[in-house]
Amino acid sequence: MTFDFMQRSVVRKAVIPAAGYGTRFLPIAKAVPKEMLPLVDKPVIQHVVEEAVSSGITDILIVISRSKRAIEEHFHPAFDLEAELEAKGRKEELESLRSLQGMARIHFVWQAKMGGLGDAVMHARDHVGDEPFAVLLGDTVVTTKGAPVTRQLADVVEKHGGSAVALQEVPADKVGRYGILGGDEIAPGLIRAAKFIEKPKLEEAPSRLAVSARYVLSPGIFECLERTPPGKGGELQLTDAMALLMRSEVLHGLRFDGQRHDIGNKLDFIKANVHFGLQREDIGGALREWIGKLMREV
Ligand code: G1P
Repeated sequence: MTFDFMQRSVVRKAVIPAAGYGTRFLPIAKAVPKEMLPLVDKPVIQHVVEEAVSSGITDILIVISRSKRAIEEHFHPAFDLEAELEAKGRKEELESLRSLQGMARIHFVWQAKMGGLGDAVMHARDHVGDEPFAVLLGDTVVTTKGAPVTRQLADVVEKHGGSAVALQEVPADKVGRYGILGGDEIAPGLIRAAKFIEKPKLEEAPSRLAVSARYVLSPGIFECLERTPPGKGGELQLTDAMALLMRSEVLHGLRFDGQRHDIGNKLDFIKANVHFGLQREDIGGALREWIGKLMREV
């Protein structure tokens, strides 16, 4: 019994919602999933999967929809292409494909209509079962200097139980774009939630701490999602269900030290490509030089 409890408290599953239309990124997002847009040469969703894997996740469910099939193809083996690369001795490229398969067990589920983030998470209910699980938004890459943010959240949940969300402070004029959490800081950077509101008006916002694309949730969330009426935008909001869950279970917010790259909007997408490009050994130096030259010219 004790052993079973210990097993269940370990976070080993993740859900990656990736079904959204990507309206902020049309026309490219019409046929190309925004999650498949590259950061240099690696699709955004691969960065997200890699974060999950390096956080100890071994099982990933990706929620997709029409026009998102490229995501499935990306994570499936391509034996013909591998054979071709092998025959030509292209070891580096071959390795980059093979490493994709060894990462985790990856599954897919189809979200039939866009009912909101809460609805996407609800589609994971049967797959997740009765254990805590991570949620990583598929269009956002989060970089940290230390442990990946999903690992940091899993540590909070494995220690304190309940659920945890990643937080970053945002300026007052941006609180209306995020889920905003308020509560008491019980340890440096760790907030015990008392209020959680999706996209509040500034005067209603309990703080400036915004949820930043990463969650570790208790399985109790599914029952709360079931009882949650449609919220902002007529959609089933994950934040609203979490506010309900907070009445019976603990929720922590973790203010993490790192950077969020939201690929779903154009400016941040370009900034993220420059950020990742500059860190690359193969092109970083030349890119830095080119940017310097460009800045002198304009
Ligand atoms: C979603 C969540 C919101 C969160 C945001 C960024 O909003 O509903 O609570 O703060 O992601 O992680 P969306 O950007 O999908 O409107």
